[in-house]
Amino acid sequence: MSREEYSGMVAAVTGGASGLGLAIATELHARGAIVYCLDRDDDKVHSPLIGVHCDVADRSSVHTAMDFVAADAGRLDVVVANAGIGAQGDIEANDDDEWMRVLNVNVIGSARTVRAAMPYLRKSPAAAVVFTSSIAAWAGLPERAPYSTSKGAISAMTLAVAADRLPLGIRVNAVAPGTADTPWVGRLLEGASDPERERVALEARQPSGRLVQLQEVADEVAYLASPNSGSSNGVILPVDGGMYSLRPRRPE
Ligand SMILES: NC(=O)c1ccc[n+]([C@@H]2O[C@H](COP(=O)([O-])OP(=O)(O)OC[C@H]3O[C@@H](n4cnc5c(N)ncnc54)[C@H](O)[C@@H]3O)[C@@H](O)[C@H]2O)c1
Repeated sequence: MSREEYSGMVAAVTGGASGLGLAIATELHARGAIVYCLDRDDDKVHSPLIGVHCDVADRSSVHTAMDFVAADAGRLDVVVANAGIGAQGDIEANDDDEWMRVLNVNVIGSARTVRAAMPYLRKSPAAAVVFTSSIAAWAGLPERAPYSTSKGAISAMTLAVAADRLPLGIRVNAVAPGTADTPWVGRLLEGASDPERERVALEARQPSGRLVQLQEVADEVAYLASPNSGSSNGVILPVDGGMYSLRPRRPE
């Protein structure tokens, strides 16, 4: 990929200290952008990426971080609202506090991020937002009621914000990854009674027979946010090894 694609552009990636966010930030930088990683764990962000402390659960923290990025870089073109937390359990398993915690970080945290960025995106000649949704927004996965609900909201928010900002030329898209090989999934596996068996089960759930690689998600985000993708708007792009749309025959 040419370094010129994002040359002169500035990106902010929430959750950019780990997993998908880190892979996305690294790819945007490889394509020429200056990239700020907004994360609770900003001390884990290393040069050439720029770490900025941000808790998306807290309104003033998000505004302070986004204002810093715009002042430091002098502009802001791309926002990737990616920070999120997992939650396990069916509809009865979690109390209101846990539902509020998950929705506050995953849904309102993403809204806060984009809202705080809007004054700066309005001034960009090639503004783009990418949300991180999930296959969980489309497919009923067991024991994921609050998490899936939060990701369904992200997909709906993608379309609503894309429609609202169409007149301004700010494009808004999302990726919907299947199970990806991130530290988060690593923690999930560590917590299973038989991690190896659990990993095989997760791989088998993907029609591709393997977990999604971080780079595959990073490439799709970079594609959606690229100034070369000016006609891609309101897209929720599955990056899931076919899980959303394919029904392959299993081997006998
Ligand atoms: N891993 C998967 O299989 C998968 C699949 C589909 C979607 N996703 C989504 O991808 C996103 C990233 O997940 P990941 O697997 O890379 O997880 P991860 O745990 O590896 O990374 C998440 C990052 O977000 C940060 N973060 C968490 N809460 C935050 C907060 N309140 N404020 C600021 N930063 C915060 C963490 O510090 C961490 O750096 C999430 O939105 C998740 O829902 C993940």
